Amino acid sequence: MTVIMDGKLTAEKITAEIKTEVSALTVKPKLAVIKVGDNPASQIYVRNKQKKALELGINSVVLELPSNVSEENLLEQIYILNEDTDINAVLVQLPLTEHINKQRIIEAIEPIKDVDGFTSFNFGRLALGYQPYTFPCTPKGIIRLMDEYNINLEGKKAVVIGRSNIVGKPLSLLLQRQNATVIMAHSKTINLKEHTLSADIIVSAVGHPNLITADMVSEGAVIIDVGINRIDNKLIGDVDFNTVKEKVSFITPVPGGIGPMTIAMLMENTLELYKFQKSLGL
Ligand code: GUN
Repeated sequence: MTVIMDGKLTAEKITAEIKTEVSALTVKPKLAVIKVGDNPASQIYVRNKQKKALELGINSVVLELPSNVSEENLLEQIYILNEDTDINAVLVQLPLTEHINKQRIIEAIEPIKDVDGFTSFNFGRLALGYQPYTFPCTPKGIIRLMDEYNINLEGKKAVVIGRSNIVGKPLSLLLQRQNATVIMAHSKTINLKEHTLSADIIVSAVGHPNLITADMVSEGAVIIDVGINRIDNKLIGDVDFNTVKEKVSFITPVPGGIGPMTIAMLMENTLELYKFQKSLGL
């Protein structure tokens, strides 16, 4: 029997707890989101983040900057948010437009407000096995969902497809922390199928519909689909869900899998940063 992992339900359980905790606070946590330009996917993601924050009693502010905003101007906005003691968490929605140096922008975020865990301070700590202020939201959500379903990672072979800074790279580090044996596959990997066929866990974070087909997975594998592809106005993942689900033990759907978990982790990170800052008297 295949288990369809319900990210929506799990996220609702987590956010209900956050809501209760936030309701007891007199000063509420506050998240600032910067969005540059009008990338249609980013518009939807940012709106969803704002909606969820509102629902949980977390304050949020969205700074919408035009696509031609200068790097200096964008940096200036980040410095203002870093200094603003009302703001606990800062997120710059990615991707940024081409003319902006992404590295410079992310590095400008104060690590203690880096809600994505993308600064070299937090990412470096993750890589070194130390405690960062935050763990990146999507990888954290994936680990949490597998934990919810009691999937033991120790000694298991995990194949992560995609090496982005947002998902693939930090996820591979988190999986290693859980004692999985991790293979990072990417667009230049030769014979992907050879790797996936011997994997206990397959995570696809590429954005390529039907990349993972039933012939590529072994019986009883765990399949985590991070892909978000819009085809004929319908959202689908990277996995050929209907055929793959017949073979595997656990699989995440798209939508309703990792997407809601990512937003729940963003809310959790915001609350964690708030609490840490308060503990320091900030
Ligand atoms: N774009 C897609 N996913 C993410 C994310 O987790 N954080 C940010 N900042 N941008 C994204």
